[in-house]
Amino acid sequence: MKHEMEIITNAVQIIRKRTDFEPEIGLILGSGLGDYADQIENPVVIPYRDLPDFPVSTVAGHTGQFVIGMCRGRHVIAMQGRVHYYEGYSQKMITLPVRIMKRLGVQKMVLTNACGGVNQEFEPGTLMMIRGHINYSGSNPLLGENFEEDGPRFPDVSQIYKKEYRDSLRAAAAAKGIHLEEGVYMMFSGPSYETPEEVRMARILGADAVGMSTVPEAIVCAHCGIPVLGISCITNFGAGILDQPLNHEEVVETAARVKKVFVEVLNTALTEVL
Ligand code: HPA
Repeated sequence: MKHEMEIITNAVQIIRKRTDFEPEIGLILGSGLGDYADQIENPVVIPYRDLPDFPVSTVAGHTGQFVIGMCRGRHVIAMQGRVHYYEGYSQKMITLPVRIMKRLGVQKMVLTNACGGVNQEFEPGTLMMIRGHINYSGSNPLLGENFEEDGPRFPDVSQIYKKEYRDSLRAAAAAKGIHLEEGVYMMFSGPSYETPEEVRMARILGADAVGMSTVPEAIVCAHCGIPVLGISCITNFGAGILDQPLNHEEVVETAARVKKVFVEVLNTALTEVL
C-alpha cells in the first residue's frame, strides 16, 4: 500500500493535468443523490479508477467519479459516489478525497447522506440539517500519522457544521415552503443496521438519526479548516421504532421519493447559503 500522501499527490497531479478549474465548494453525494452531479455544466469527469490506489466503492448505486464544473453559478467538485468505512477501508483512506478536494481549492463542503430516524417525530422522507455528530463508529480518520500541512494533531471539532449555513438554509428553505429539521447524526460502522436496543441507546445519548457515513469526512473537514453543511435524508424509522424489519429497498425508495426536494435544497444552498 502506497503512503496516503502519495495517493493524494498523484490524484491532484492527474486531475490538474485534465483541468485547471478551481472548485470552491465540495459536494459529497450520498445514497440516491448521485445524479445531482448531472446538473454540472461542461463537466470534467474523473473516474476514481483513474487515480492510483484511490479507494473504490463496491456498493451498487455508488458510481465512483469526481465531477468538476459550474453548478448554479458556483465552482464545484462533486463526488458522485463515496466510499464507506464498512467496505473495509480505514477511515483515513475513505477521507483522502476531502484532502484532495482541499488541494484543488475547496473551501466549503456539503455532505449528504441517507440515514435512519431515531427521533420519532422525524418521519421517513424528512430532510435534517446536521447540527452535530456523535462518532460511534469505533474509529477516527485522523488515527496514525498527522498530515501537518492540513491541520494540527489535536484539532477542534466543536463547530464542524457551521451555524451560519444552518441558519441561512433554514430561512431560505422556509421561504420556499420546504420543511427542514435539524438534529444530531450518530455514526455506526454498519454494514448491519442497528438493533432496536442500539437505536434506543442512540436516542438516550442524544442522537436524532443514525447512519454509516459522513462523520469521517466531517472530521477531516474540521482538520482541514473546511466548514461543513451536512444534510441527511431520513429514509426510514430506526430499527425497532416500528414492529417490522429494516431493508435496503425502503432506504432506496424513500431516497428516490425525496430526491426532488433534496435537489431543491442543494440548489438553494449553492445559490443562497454557501
Ligand atoms: N441505519 C443506518 N444507516 C442507514 C439507515 C439506518 O436505519 N437507513 C439508511 N441508512
